[in-house]
Parts: sequence; structure tokens; C-alpha cells
Amino acid sequence: MSDSTAAPETITVTVDGRAVAARPGELLIEVAERAGVYVPRFCYHPRMEPVGMCRMCLVEVSGPRGFSLQPACFQRASDGQEIRTDSDKARKAQEGVLEFLLLNHPLDCPVCDKGGECPLQDQALSHGPGESRFVEEKRHWEKPIAISPLVQLDRERCIQCARCTRFAAEVAGEALIDFAFRGDAIEVSPFPARPFSSYFSGNTVQICPVGALTAAPYRFKSRPWDLEQVETTCTICAVGCRVAAQSSAGRLVRYLGIDADPVNQSWLCDKGRFCIGATEAPTRLLRPQVRRDGELVELGWGEALREVARAVHAANLRFGPGGVALIGGARLANEDAYAWAKLAKGILKTDNVDAQLGDGLPAELVLGLPRATIDEAAAARAVLVLSGDLREELPVLHLRLRAAARRGVPLVELSPAPGALAEVARATLAHRPGDSARLVAALLGTDPDPELLALTGVDHTQFAGARAVLADALGAGANGEARGTGVVVVIGRPSLADDGRDVAQAAALLHRALPGARFLPALRRSNVHGALDMGLAPGVLPGRVALDAGRSWFEAAWGAAPADRGRDAAGILEAAASGEIGLLVLLGADPLSDFPDARLARAALEGAGVVVACGTHEDPSNRLAHVVLPLAGNDERSGTTTNLEGRVTRLAQKVVPPGVAWPAWSVAAALARALDADLGLESLEAASREIARLAPAHRGVDLELLARPERRDGVVVPLPASAVALGATRRPRPIDPVATPGILSVEEQGAPLGAGAAEPPGGAAGASHAPTTERPALLRLSGLEDLGAAVPPASGDAGFRLVVRRSLYDGGTLVKASAALAALSPDALLAVAPAALERLGLAPGARARVRSAHGEAIVELTADPGLHPGVVALGAHLIPDASALVEVDRPVTDVVVETIP
Ligand code: SF4
Ligand code: SF4
Ligand code: FES
Repeated sequence: MSDSTAAPETITVTVDGRAVAARPGELLIEVAERAGVYVPRFCYHPRMEPVGMCRMCLVEVSGPRGFSLQPACFQRASDGQEIRTDSDKARKAQEGVLEFLLLNHPLDCPVCDKGGECPLQDQALSHGPGESRFVEEKRHWEKPIAISPLVQLDRERCIQCARCTRFAAEVAGEALIDFAFRGDAIEVSPFPARPFSSYFSGNTVQICPVGALTAAPYRFKSRPWDLEQVETTCTICAVGCRVAAQSSAGRLVRYLGIDADPVNQSWLCDKGRFCIGATEAPTRLLRPQVRRDGELVELGWGEALREVARAVHAANLRFGPGGVALIGGARLANEDAYAWAKLAKGILKTDNVDAQLGDGLPAELVLGLPRATIDEAAAARAVLVLSGDLREELPVLHLRLRAAARRGVPLVELSPAPGALAEVARATLAHRPGDSARLVAALLGTDPDPELLALTGVDHTQFAGARAVLADALGAGANGEARGTGVVVVIGRPSLADDGRDVAQAAALLHRALPGARFLPALRRSNVHGALDMGLAPGVLPGRVALDAGRSWFEAAWGAAPADRGRDAAGILEAAASGEIGLLVLLGADPLSDFPDARLARAALEGAGVVVACGTHEDPSNRLAHVVLPLAGNDERSGTTTNLEGRVTRLAQKVVPPGVAWPAWSVAAALARALDADLGLESLEAASREIARLAPAHRGVDLELLARPERRDGVVVPLPASAVALGATRRPRPIDPVATPGILSVEEQGAPLGAGAAEPPGGAAGASHAPTTERPALLRLSGLEDLGAAVPPASGDAGFRLVVRRSLYDGGTLVKASAALAALSPDALLAVAPAALERLGLAPGARARVRSAHGEAIVELTADPGLHPGVVALGAHLIPDASALVEVDRPVTDVVVETIP
């Protein structure tokens, strides 16, 4: 296209007589808004496609035949256009629409949750006629009706704007509610045989412009004028959605999604929104407890901390620094994690520290891979997803990627148990656990080995589709950029029934082959990224540096650092079970519920000299502890948290902690004093400043920076050098992600896909792009025998490879403590591909015995058409059953499914 015909970047629209610059095709309602002119609206929502349903936004718009009334939310701007929002004609139209909308509206504002924050109330006042000509009887319906356990519907309040139905279909991808009937009988309704069981239902309540949809947990709890509010971050999962936390009379009552453009774009999942009740659960820990004569008894902080200090001395005396170990920290704030890392590594000199519970990825890999933002993933040339079902683990990331795929971003999913993204993915490779590194090597190779493909049993059409997507993305990026530029890889831990090495190797392979690719680590626990960043993992120190590389830097700052790399969570639990750990600290961690092998976790808690559990709620692990210390939870303390992008955002305190619970950083500081040491962190601000000064990746990022209005959505670390004031210059070098022990065993062979050697399946896609001039070496796994192939799948029709996958309502501590969510945990079912069920001669609903080399469990079967026929999947929330089967020390777990006579 020549320059003369190119579309102008900006056009001019006249709004109420004022010239305004606009983008071609921008909606007129948005042009007016930018110009400071509010056009009334109900159905318009900036995050959804316009429908022009309610007609509230009628304005006069110029056209070839003069001015006419048009919905401003539906008309797109063109150059020279003129709109009148406050003319007599526009105002009369708006008043008329409001008069009609109120015709059947019950006007039960005094008892409506929306009263005081209702767009219908507000716009009746600002744009309504002031009186109504209608005197007829209004509609009366039974009210409210529960359309789900979380959402209630007062049908007569509905103004048929279709925000809720559009959200369900368009954004959530779960068209579980729609309009039923016609005329004045029209109502929003779920389908008769399909309940409104969406993980995102709370968003429909938030965007309903009237009180037709209300949240069951909030109904009649408060009025808007009673509410106080702070902006903070959801700390249920690692997406880190920005939320408004609202309290009334000193009690938390509601979370609302904030439109943080780079993160959650106003949406929340129901777990994040409705777990609010967990704050006041009867299981909250209120006071320190110490075990006396077998019973936990409440004591003061001083006495409890002296008890812990004695245990530290005893453990050190008997075992040396490695006799103290710490598991957890992924549910704390960054400042807490830093304080505990400094206490463990700088004062106690132990590196036996792990924020993950054997259910994540190696810390070096997570910290060393080049990180993508969610926005980069949403605009990528291709997205590869190697993780569990993101809808279950990181729900709002699922929404963002789903929206991107619907806009045309090609997405390929490789998973042993493909999730909800399969619906929008260009290709889905359902494979057996242990095969992902092999499949990645085949995807990157010029000539995939047919035998290798046959071994993985993946669908050949899907495989060809995946290669075509990759070839297209790599071809498009051939202009001197690093290979893989524009490709984003989401890397997580799809199953707890294997040791995680396979997917880690797949990530390392992709990093080696595509140095321009960026990674989004899909670890789910809320601040696991902050905890790893702060050094709560073996072999690393705060600020994303390896222990060896950063030792002298931190020794100089802290006075000491561990001499050797320590153990991870599995290693710590094994050592504790064999009596080699004198003091085990659980930092908001519950290994009995979360570690894949519950038997090992129990043996460890019984075998450790002393167990000290710091947490917010009672859980199975801290019931076995010798000392229990109560922590302040989210909304009860300030600080910062870090999401999966490495985005650091502020946590704000809204309510006071219950009992005498403390923030975890001050527990670490007080424990250091009980040990006659000084952590040097006398306040949260001091901890924040020290992180910004010492942790290389967090240089310049402190509470003060994050308080600036332009940093409302946080900052992604590390900041660009230009944004950081110069400080000390000799800083430790960053981590090499593929240098992690045991992750990668590769050899370089051949040429890469897209290098001109072969046309990928799908032909034209690869051929239409110029081949790269570089020929970076093709990586091929060596040592495949170390992975899944080392454990041949159980033979015969009944042999399967086990996946243990996460579900959103996982029956964990917070879900159980939340009255609204506790009943929503899924049933205990073993998912099997329909073809495999047929092979077994079993039907969904049948009960079967599942047996591994480790143990067995009796489970009910269900069909899952997305599964590879050689795979069965169990929910991780059934940890006692699942961990009876899981062989944590082996790369994969094979099982046999047997009928019960
Ligand atoms: Fe609109 Fe609310 Fe009615 Fe849904 S229930 S159509 S959001 S008024
Ligand atoms: Fe909270 Fe995660 Fe849900 Fe966002 S996606 S609301 S961070 S639980
Ligand atoms: Fe424009 Fe509803 S807001 S038609």
C-alpha cells in the first residue's frame, strides 16, 4: 500500500462542538469519554464487543443525510464526524429509553444490593425524565432465584443489557446463561440441564448494571456508603489480579476486580473473589501455641519464640547449620520472604530452604529463563502451553490467553491432560507424562522421527498443526532477531505424579533452540515467584542469583551465607524422616496436604526434632507441630507481592489481624533477636529498602516507587537499567537457567525448523517466509532413557500413565475455610479417555481399583475425551488417594486400572 492510501493514524471527530483526535474505527462512546463527555450507557462494556442493545447511549451523529440518532457504543468514528450528546433530540431519546427501562423495574432500591452504586439509579437521575407516564402494574417474579451456589437472580430487576450473557460466552467461554422467552416474559436463565457452574460467575455480578445479579456471599452485607476500600492484589494464585478490598465496620466484605490493563483487565476468578470468608474462619490461628504434654497450649510471643530459639540451638549443636530446614514462604509477602531468607541463609547459614512443595519447577529454571509478560503472551507470534489446565490453576491467565487465541494468536498446547484452552488452540498434543521433552525435540527438528512420534502416541494431524504454527512464528521472526523472538512459552507442572524433570527439560530445550523466546512460568501458589526471587530455594540468593555467584556479595551485606547448596522440599522431608533435621520450619506450608507423597510428609513431620509452623489457619500439618505461630494474612498487612510475570505490586492492609497474629517479617526479626542476632529489619519499609538495595533483580524497586500513581499496576523486575539510579556496580551475575543440576542433557545436531532444510507439514506456512540466514544448531535430547522411557508403561489394556492434576477448588486450607467455596470441591473421580474406558469394558460411574508400585486406591471413573488414551487423571485435591499411588522418586507413575469384582 502506498503512503498516499495508508489509513491516517488519527482522525478528528467533533464532540459537542469540540474537535477531538480519535483513532479510525474507535467507538464514539470512547471518543466522547476521552474528551471528558460522559454518554449514558448500560450494555456497553469496554472489555466486550459492543451489541447496541439498551439504546441508552443514543446521540446525534452526522452522516450523509444530516444528523440522526445512533447508539454511540455501536458507531465507529470516521474523520470529520460530528456528534451531539446534549442536544434536545439526544436528551429526549435518552429520557425516553430510561422511562421505558423503568416501566417494569421494581424500584426496590431500599433492599437492593446495588442501591447507592447502581448505574440505573444514577442515570435515572442524570439522564432520566424525572417522572413516568406509566401507571401499569409491574412484573412480579419469585425472587431471588439461585442460578448457582454463588449467584442469585432477581429477574424483574434485569434490563436485558446482555452484559452477563456476553461475558459468559465471549470472555469466559462458558455460555451457561442466556435469555429465555420473549417480550415482557424475557429473563436471564441458565439452561435446564446445565448449571451455571463457571469459575468466573462473580464477574457477571460485578458488571450487571442493576441489582439483577447479586453475589450470595455479599447479599445484604453492606451498603456502599458503609464501605471503606483499598487497592491491593489478590494473593490466591500467581496471576496477581488487582482488586479493591472493601470492608464495613472493620470486617472484609467484598472484593471487586480492578481494571489493571496489563494483568486482569477487571476480571477475577470466583476463588479469588469469594474466598473472602476465609479471613474470619473459625480455623484462624489467633495466638502462639506450644506443645506441652502432648497438647498445644497458648502462650505469649516471647515464650513461644524462646522455645523456637532453643530448638535452633539444639539443631545446630547436633547437626550443624543443615540441621535447620525451612519449607514454604510462597503465600507470604516479598518482605516476609526476604526476612526469612536472610534469617535462614544469612544468620542460620542453612540452604535447606524451599518455597515449593515438590510440585513446581527447579528454581534456577524459573529464575533464569527470560520472562514474558502476560501482554507479550497475548500479542505473541505463537504461544506454546506446557502446563496443567490454566483455567484450574491460573484462571485469569486462562482468560487472557483465551482472548488472545480468539483474536488470532496461534496457541499450541502440549499436555498430558489438556485443559480448557484446547477449545481455542490451533493444535493440542495430548501426550503421556514423560514425553513432553521428546515432543518438543520433534517439534523443533527438521525431520521428526516417525518411530518417536509413534511412541508418544500423539495425534499426527495435531502434531502437523503444531509444527505449522511454530514454523510460521519462526519464519515471521527471521529479520535478524534472535531465533524464537515473539514466541512465548507457558511452562508449568501439569502433573504431580512425575518428578517434573520432563517438562523442565522441555523448557530448557526450547530456551536453547529459541533464544529469543520468552517464558511465563505457570507456578500457581500466590507469591511463589516472590519467594523464589527472595532466595527461598536451595542454591539461590535474593534477586535471582545463584548461591555460588552471589555468596561474596551477600556475605559482605549479611555477614554470612550458606557454604553449600542445600536440599529441596523432597530432600528436606526425606532428611527429616530419617532424623537428620533438628528443626523444621513450615512457613505457611502444609506438606501433608500439598506434597505429592503424603506418607513421606507425615514421616518427616514425625521424624523432625521440632516442627515450628507459622500460618494463618489450622491445617493438617500444623496440628502435628510443636510450636504454632499465627501470621497476619492478606488484607491484614501491607507489603508487596510478585506475580508470574515478575510484576511487583503493592499489598494494602484493610483490616486488623485477628488475635495477636503478626506479619511474617516481624516474626523473623523477633526470632533473630531471640537468637541474640539482629536481622537489621526494624520495619516493613526497611525490609523493602534493603531488597531494593541488595537484590540485583529488584534494584530500585521499593514501596516508595510502587506508591507512585503511575506504578499503580506495579513494575516488572528487573527494571531497565535506565530506570534505576546507579548504586553499587559489582553485582552477582544472573542465573543460567539450563545450568540447573539434572535439568538438561542435550547434544547439538542438525539444523532447525525454518532453516530452509525442509518444508514443515502444512507446506505453505513454512515456505511463505524467507528462511533464516543463521543456522543455529538443532537440539536433540540425549539421555532420553533418563526420562519416561526408563519406566515402560504398564503393559496390556489396563496399563496407564498417571496424571495428578490441580483443580481450582482444591479443598485446600483457604477453600475449606471459605463458607462460599468449601462445598464446591469436585468429586473424587478418575478421568479416563472414552476409548480406554471401552477397552476396559467399564462405563463412567463405575468404581475401579487403581494400583501403582507404590500403593492403590479405589475410585469412581469418569470419561474425559481430551485425554491421551494411555493416560488416567486424578485430582490433586484427593491427595491421600493420589499420593497413595504417586512415586515421587521416579520420573513417571504407571498404574493399572482393575475392575472391582
Ligand atoms: Fe444485564 Fe444484569 Fe440483566 Fe444480565 S442480569 S442482562 S447483566 S441487567
Ligand atoms: Fe486471584 Fe488468581 Fe483468581 Fe486472579 S486468577 S482472582 S489472582 S485467584
Ligand atoms: Fe449503547 Fe447500550 S450502551 S446501546
